[in-house]
Amino acid sequence: MPEADEKKEKNFYPEIRQKNKAFFLKGSNNFDWGMKNRLSKIFNPVTGKTVMLAIDHGYFQGPTTGLERIDVTILPLLAYSDTLMLTRGILRSIIPPTYPNGIVLRASGGPSILKELSDEQIAMDIEDAIRLNAAAVAVQVFIGGQYETQSVHNMTRLVDMGQRYGIAVLGVTAVGKELVRDAKYMRLACRICAELGATYVKTYYVEPDFETVTASCPVPIVIAGGKKIPELDALNMAYNAIQQGAFGVDMGRNIFQAENPVAMIQAVRMVVHKNEKPEKAYQFYRESIEEKQKKE
Ligand code: R5P
Repeated sequence: MPEADEKKEKNFYPEIRQKNKAFFLKGSNNFDWGMKNRLSKIFNPVTGKTVMLAIDHGYFQGPTTGLERIDVTILPLLAYSDTLMLTRGILRSIIPPTYPNGIVLRASGGPSILKELSDEQIAMDIEDAIRLNAAAVAVQVFIGGQYETQSVHNMTRLVDMGQRYGIAVLGVTAVGKELVRDAKYMRLACRICAELGATYVKTYYVEPDFETVTASCPVPIVIAGGKKIPELDALNMAYNAIQQGAFGVDMGRNIFQAENPVAMIQAVRMVVHKNEKPEKAYQFYRESIEEKQKKE
């Protein structure tokens, strides 16, 4: 039977070898295509870094300052976030489905701020994460806490479910009040998350020796912002973390509680994606505020 497609001008470029390029992200080369594609919606493939905007605080503390009206205060920030970390409730009720970047869904929860915080359980099915086109799910891990084993089990179950469908898992190292936040603790917590299958890990920036935390963790680390501090200090923290091996920030209060959140997230981007010095990013931040004031 003759071939339907018999054009003479075919060119198979036999002299050009097909390239086999390694995936850009630390520790992620052996994942399947779907997982890598989702990770590329969290981490910018050009810079290898991410500015995740964390707005999931309501999952245990309700209408957090700055998040009382997400439709009013957070939607203007979406254009500057590489990824949103949030609950499925806020995603469905407020975030436009045209948002083009990665979604990281809060997938653990249970106790509120009024109760024992570490007693969390898995709070969503992986099917719903798929329905919402999530790039990753996030789970709190309380190493050294009263519910350590339970929270680790939450994470490993999510890793199994995520691997089934190519959804990444963000292990969030949660430090109880009784534990010391230092590099020794963070090394332990991050490494346990990675060893047990987290695709990437969120932790706090600590001094000294943060570079030993990132070096001993075989998957990317992003840092949480923590409670609100002066804007220049937050930019310094982000800068130091990136210089010491972090792959980005998962920042909430230090962006949405800033005097000017739109300017702040842009300043954070300068530090994370362009390696700008914190002073320069802060200068941009102040100038943006002054310009805005002039217009008013
Ligand atoms: C806390 O567990 C929440 O998941 C937040 O997403 C996280 O703490 C990051 O937000 P912030 O920068 O406000 O600390």
